[in-house]
Order: sequence, then C-alpha cells, then structure tokens
Amino acid sequence: GLVPALERAESLITLIPDYPKPGILFRDVAPLLADGPALRAVTDALIAPFAGEFDVVTGVEARGFLLAGAVAIAAGVGLVPIRKAGKLPRPAASADYTLEYGTATIEMHDDIPVGTRVLLLDDVLATGGTIAAAKDLVARVGGIVTGTAVLMELEGLGGREILGDPRLHHIFRG
Ligand code: PRP
Repeated sequence: GLVPALERAESLITLIPDYPKPGILFRDVAPLLADGPALRAVTDALIAPFAGEFDVVTGVEARGFLLAGAVAIAAGVGLVPIRKAGKLPRPAASADYTLEYGTATIEMHDDIPVGTRVLLLDDVLATGGTIAAAKDLVARVGGIVTGTAVLMELEGLGGREILGDPRLHHIFRG
C-alpha cells in the first residue's frame, strides 16, 4: 500500500461530475495541492523513479505548472513551462492536440541547451493527447524527455497505449 501521506493525498482528489462538459468526470487535484503534507508526498513520489535522471522539469498549463514548481525546488533543478497558445512573449514551438473534451494548442520556448534531460509532469493523464504534444514540444526545442510522471492516470482512455512509454509513472490510478 501507499504511505499514509500518499493515501491522504489520494483521498483529497475530488471527483466532479459533468465538468467541464456533460459526461466528463473531472479529477480536481486542488484540495490535494492545498494540503502541505499531501503536496510534499506527491512531489517526492513524482521524482523518485527518475532521481538524478533529469536536468530540468516541465509542466503543462495549468495544473502541471504547480507540480513543476514543487518538483523543481525539491529536485534542485529549473523549470520550463509549457503554455496554452498565445501566452508566450517570444517565438515558440507549437503543437496542436485533441483533448477528451475538445482541441487545444500548447507552446514552449527554446530555453534549454540541446540535449537537456527533461522530466515531464502533469496532473492527469487521460487520452494522452496533452502529454504526447508536450513530448513533441520538448523534442523540438532540443530536449530529451527522460521521464514522464503524472499524479493520476485514468485507465481505459488509451493514454498509456498512445504514449508507448514503459516507464510512464503515475502515483494514483482512476
Ligand atoms: C487536463 C489535465 C491534463 C489533460 C489530460 O488539462 O490537466 O493536462 O487535461 O487530458 P489528455 O490526456 O486527454 O490530454 P486541461 O486541458 O483541462 O487544461 P487546464 O489544466 O488548463 O484546465
């Protein structure tokens, strides 16, 4: 079983029916983020399988940012945000993708040296479209994704299959 702080963290993830659209069961991680020991525990658990294997962390707007900040400080590395389209001030790599509930575009600045090892983070893996697009962005700015970690992997939506990454790490499943 999970250590008590992780069990507590999991219990704080709140299921919201029909958000943001009818038929979608949204996993709201905000109550987990609001709890200090839970946030600490998930931060450590995101890092653990990849300790020493990354030079920088990236997270996808918006909730992936929050995890990226926590993980960057805990691991002693920097972070590069992946933003929704139209938010970055300089020319950026851009990738379109399909979501469980729509389409979107994400962008990333070329702020890392070629060959930088990147740990990619997000809160929830569903169809895998977001993570796949994020991996494409990291490659296009010259980085190497050496690990991908999410708080929660939703099973049955094909995300793991699409990503094809045997080391894909989740803390919780839903
Ligand atoms: C949610 C979640 C992941 C993504 C997972 O973000 O935070 O980034 O969906 O879905 P996928 O695996 O099917 O791509 P959302 O697009 O709702 O953006 P937000 O964090 O800005 O609300």
